[in-house]
Amino acid sequence: MTAYPGPPERPRRLRGTPALRRLVSQTRLHPAELVLPVFVRDGITGPEPIGSMPGVVQHTPTSLVAAAREAVEAGVGGIMVFGVPRAQDKDAVGSVGLDPDGVLNAALRTLRTELGDDTVIMSDLCLDEFTDHGHCGLVDDAGRVDNDSTLEVYARMAVAQAEAGAHVVGPSGMMDGQVRVVRQALDAAGHQDISVLAYTAKYASGFYGPFREAVASTLQGDRATYQQDPANRAESLRELRLDLEEGADMVMVKPALPYLDVLSDVAAQSDVPVAAYQVSGEYAMIEAAASQGLLDRDRMVIETLTSIRRAGAQVVLTYYATTAARLLGG
Ligand code: PBG
Repeated sequence: MTAYPGPPERPRRLRGTPALRRLVSQTRLHPAELVLPVFVRDGITGPEPIGSMPGVVQHTPTSLVAAAREAVEAGVGGIMVFGVPRAQDKDAVGSVGLDPDGVLNAALRTLRTELGDDTVIMSDLCLDEFTDHGHCGLVDDAGRVDNDSTLEVYARMAVAQAEAGAHVVGPSGMMDGQVRVVRQALDAAGHQDISVLAYTAKYASGFYGPFREAVASTLQGDRATYQQDPANRAESLRELRLDLEEGADMVMVKPALPYLDVLSDVAAQSDVPVAAYQVSGEYAMIEAAASQGLLDRDRMVIETLTSIRRAGAQVVLTYYATTAARLLGG
């Protein structure tokens, strides 16, 4: 006994054993809520490692199907597919993204044929992977990314992706009005059942750096005229309101860990499922620290994903999806 009276309350009582902690845990991770982003690249004969994302590769169609099956077997809830065309197939308007036989649409078709409805197949609906200038939209004579002409391309792309077999399309270009145009185009083409996962709060982030290597991006400059300023918070609620009005079935915040406040705001206001994207730079940071022995990778994976869920994400896109699912015993 000390000379002092004990503290009036003892929160530590609920932390005493693993079983107690498990009993009162408020946030549980489940593999079914994780989505694995994958890259499929045209013109390669085997999987290509991505230097800035150790452990992540650009897939051939064959290795993509194998990775998707592994994810499904581990219990992962879905996959988000990004296409990487050959450099010579890129042009100013991103035609290869509309081509039913273009790398992304062909991969979606293969995945849907091989996996059917065993998982949720999502497609990135954006132009940056397909344009020679690397922007997410069409560039006008003055060098500006033009909103409304880009929407017309997104509309056609959405239909091409739905026809290729995507269950969900994910417009990620941050053009105003993109969700409405995509929804209308899908409906007009008879794809009322295809969902739209809106990239609702997407910030102009340095954390996308490694992704640019992953998709062999040619972008010069930045995306600050269409992606959000990291300094702004209220704007995400405006983006949310618009996306919900326009018919988004799910909404997303991206990146995840540096934007947990935004995620929390969006989750509090959204009546559709909220996703968050743990992006390439978040992955690369953990890998870099772990490879130097500075951090324990597995703990960081679970802790970051738990934090993202705790802040309000129901679904998390993460390059660790299969890894995490296995850690969780899925
Ligand atoms: C745009 C898109 C990007 C990412 C996902 N979709 C790149 C960008 O906006 O610059 C980044 C994902 C990541 O960094 O993991 N098609």
